[in-house]
Amino acid sequence: MRISVIGCGYLGAVHAASMAKLGHEVVAVDVDPVKIERLAAGDAPFFEPGLPEILSEAIESGRIRFTTDMSEVAGARVHFVAVGTPQGPTGAADLTYVDAAVAALTQYVAADEFVVGKSTVPVGTAARLATSLSAAVPGATLVWNPEFLREGFAVQDTISPDRLVYGVPSGAAGESAVAALDEVYATTLAEGTPRLVVDLATAELVKVSANAFLATKISFINAMAEIAEVVGADVTALADAIGHDARIGRKFLNAGLGFGGGCLPKDIRAFQARATELGVGESLAFLADVDAINLRRRAHVVTLAEDLLGGDVTGKHVAVLGLAFKPNSDDVRDSPSLDITARLHELGAVVSAYDPEANGTAARIHPEVHYVDSADEALRGADLVLVLTEWNEFRQLDPAVVAGLVGRPVVVDGRNCLDRDAWTAAGFTVRGMGR
Ligand code: UDX
Repeated sequence: MRISVIGCGYLGAVHAASMAKLGHEVVAVDVDPVKIERLAAGDAPFFEPGLPEILSEAIESGRIRFTTDMSEVAGARVHFVAVGTPQGPTGAADLTYVDAAVAALTQYVAADEFVVGKSTVPVGTAARLATSLSAAVPGATLVWNPEFLREGFAVQDTISPDRLVYGVPSGAAGESAVAALDEVYATTLAEGTPRLVVDLATAELVKVSANAFLATKISFINAMAEIAEVVGADVTALADAIGHDARIGRKFLNAGLGFGGGCLPKDIRAFQARATELGVGESLAFLADVDAINLRRRAHVVTLAEDLLGGDVTGKHVAVLGLAFKPNSDDVRDSPSLDITARLHELGAVVSAYDPEANGTAARIHPEVHYVDSADEALRGADLVLVLTEWNEFRQLDPAVVAGLVGRPVVVDGRNCLDRDAWTAAGFTVRGMGR
């Protein structure tokens, strides 16, 4: 099938390359000429495992084309909208890019074609866009097909997702939309992936409520960590124990620095803002606490660092291991790790920060921080070690070797990812999260 993908960020670039991998002929559009040039040369503009491989394969097969020229989408049957919906100044989602993409698309979309939203939007957006699309192009149909991909597993989550959700209008237009999307995802559906067909509003809500639930689960366990810290209990053992209850489950119960990234923090704020607009703000009032618990973890680590450095970080050498919001990503959007790093620098600590992939993205946001090229370099002479993102490289560090590099053997395990006994045996004072 001929497919267009509008937006080549973390979502769109992976989606476009994955569609080509599934055998479709894809034209991918972005307004950023630098990004398009890199993608066209097979150079992924961000770190995502598996993306370089499927991108090269798609380019070699001739099934993908990258362009800044929207008119090239003409002739595609399905047009995916995968542009960003960043947080606006009030917390509500900024829909500028989605509105602009759909407005630009309407000039080239024909009747019997489908505009398929993938971006995360406030509930009600799809219905509004559907009205403007059918006014501009009678016979074209707008549908919503939310994306649940996790960074670091984006390719796998796109090609073999755990479910497909189609938000479609009722009647014949909805039926043709389902048939078209079934053709797009034929390979995925053949693997037995569950497919849910719902109305537009439900599809939009599925996405934001899934993220709100995940954020709540993380903040729940971080709230338990706060209590465990006071009473001397171990939140990891607690998570293991409650996680055995199949109704609760062990996943997303890792206490640590809390959630960051381009989705969960902004999505829970946008969801609250939308609920308030709809007059049901009370229904999501709890998300303000979810957000507050999450942000408290960052403040907690800064305070812990101050305590471990004798009350004042000024002039103290702090080794930061990890800047990305999670491992296997170079994304530092709303990253707890980078936030803590910048705060310690601001407080006067002499920070040496290292991330296997995110030094560059971090330096763009916080150029004032000192970044180094290896964990060893960061660790040398450190008064305090902070492990802030749980990359395997850090999990696998030999504490005996690290002990020989640092000035003082004190480590904060911000992700509860280190072998506490091994580090303690190597002479370290180890402070975890909620343990
Ligand atoms: C998330 C959703 O998982 C995905 O379905 C949606 O499409 C986009 O948002 P992503 O932002 O890639 O994906 O990251 P995710 O793996 O969900 O992690 C989010 C944050 O929560 C990270 O900062 C991670 O470190 C943190 N986290 C996750 C915890 O602190 N504890 C956990 O137990 C799990």
